[in-house]
Amino acid sequence: MKKIIFIFLMASGSLFAQKKQKMSVLIDQQFHFAAEQYGVLKHNIASGEMPRTFNPATGKVVTSDTKWWCSGFYPGSLLYIYEYTKNPDIKAEAEKRLAILEKEKHYLGNHDLGFMMYCSFGNAYRLFHKAEDKATIDTSAMSLATRYRPSIESIQSWDSNELLKCPVIIDNMMNLEMLCWVSDNGGDKRFKEIAINHANTTLKTHFRADNSSYHLVDYDLKTGQIIKKITWQGLADSSAWARGQGWGLYGYTMMYRFTKDKNYLNQARKIAAFLINHPNLPADKIPYWDYNAPNTPTQYRDASAGALIASALLELGQYTGAKEKKLYVNTAETMLRSLASDKYRAKLGENGGFLLLHSVGHMPNKTEIDVPLTYADYYYLEALLRYKKWYL
Ligand code: GLY
Repeated sequence: MKKIIFIFLMASGSLFAQKKQKMSVLIDQQFHFAAEQYGVLKHNIASGEMPRTFNPATGKVVTSDTKWWCSGFYPGSLLYIYEYTKNPDIKAEAEKRLAILEKEKHYLGNHDLGFMMYCSFGNAYRLFHKAEDKATIDTSAMSLATRYRPSIESIQSWDSNELLKCPVIIDNMMNLEMLCWVSDNGGDKRFKEIAINHANTTLKTHFRADNSSYHLVDYDLKTGQIIKKITWQGLADSSAWARGQGWGLYGYTMMYRFTKDKNYLNQARKIAAFLINHPNLPADKIPYWDYNAPNTPTQYRDASAGALIASALLELGQYTGAKEKKLYVNTAETMLRSLASDKYRAKLGENGGFLLLHSVGHMPNKTEIDVPLTYADYYYLEALLRYKKWYL
């Protein structure tokens, strides 16, 4: 009899342990943790710098200057944390970092202005409505638009070099948000036209029959012809680099928000189907850094891709019927629960002060492998806020 009671108690105990935490509680815990953890991170960065990653071998946070493509994510994450917690120290730190970033509105060196200036100043303006922040975004859009190339109807991602003539990468879809926003908010209407042309060209040239995308398409600027389709950060030219697929999913969902063009919505749905149904997506739904990485010596997960895809799926669920919405929200929820677990989320005071572990920056370069990254934290916080806003 004692044995039966013991087995019953064990079984009910494990059932109890399996009961899922409410998402409202999980989100609340994650934001209060984030405010404390970013209080640690801010002490690990000199005043003119931005955090980039953490090197466990040295125990030091690796930083960047404000020209690095990720310079907007740290202020953006601080603003998301402030939005939820209203913590004044977090707001003060965000303002301090925005002040050093502002000069980059004139940066012309690559296509990353959207990441840099819209994830930062876009959120600042959304929260505080300061005219000077809007002016910064407007100028940044003007700078980004200088990279538009009419002969290929796209924005040139990087300058030409000995290997590439006019490279356009799938990541570039993300920078279109700033252009659309500026046009829709009293700015030059040409910016949105540029964004639409770019999205249409990418739709035609970057995608494969299975709806995965090439990372990079290189063009001849004189003829407008494609020279080659390759990867820069993926496992192989033909593989599905996870973060690249995420940029495409997020990008077409966002372009549908601004245009209501069904082609964009359908492209986002096709990318989502590719990502969700892929046999190599693990049970916890955090992808390998490349969907073709399993069974290679480099089969690391990429938490940044997981966070980004979760955030995009939550928006996509806003634009589809109930059945698809359920699939997208359930998948995103699994991703967020995984990221919030001990497997992916750092402990207070560890990880240099970053929130998430296990992202991959640039595998072919052998840099930033299985480390925290600012953009993983940013899209994680964004996804949690989106879940709260739309699905609680
Ligand atoms: N946009 C660069 C990257 O995703 O690593």
